Amino acid sequence: MTRSCAILLSGGGSNMVQLVKSMAEAGHPARPVLVMSNDPGAGGLARAQAMGVATDAVDHRPFGKDRAAFEAELTARLEAAGADLICLAGFMRVLTEGFVRHWEGRMLNIHPSLLPKYRGLHTHARALDAGDAEAGCTVHEVTPALDDGPILGQARVPILSGDTPESLAARVLVREHELYPACLRRFAAGERHPIYLN
Ligand code: GRF
Repeated sequence: MTRSCAILLSGGGSNMVQLVKSMAEAGHPARPVLVMSNDPGAGGLARAQAMGVATDAVDHRPFGKDRAAFEAELTARLEAAGADLICLAGFMRVLTEGFVRHWEGRMLNIHPSLLPKYRGLHTHARALDAGDAEAGCTVHEVTPALDDGPILGQARVPILSGDTPESLAARVLVREHELYPACLRRFAAGERHPIYLN
């Protein structure tokens, strides 16, 4: 059974581009049905349209503090598109337990650190401040705790002398573009064992 994948983003969508491209590979167990954003102006929406993928936006701002109402609208649109698998790809809204439970076992995220290190924001600066020798990225299933949940894959990069948060982020992003498609393909095929790319 081919899975119907929605991708949620807030920004430029470079990971989304790689996920969509990967789903065009022969025999891929998923197809992209929707790219959705909380920001109607997100650059990733135009990039998805250019690749022929349906897009949608639910602006979070009119919902104020009512995150449950915002998420109910997200779920309604996702289900109307037939999505049964969600990839968070730079989606910058924290999700409530209710939304996560609804999609649990069907929702992946990519985080730019070697989890369990550096959950949350500013991961690259924190790795540099700690004097770490390496950094990387993690794809995991989404559970209610932030940047937690079963790990599906990790990729590592060296930290080089003179690195800035920006130079390190750029090196990690290259690996995100390899790791996320690899993990999506395995997950959509029912594989749950993590992969570690060096
Ligand atoms: C990536 O670094 C991802 O790890 C983080 O947000 C960024 C999204 O980048 N969660 P892009 O929009 O995919 O280019």
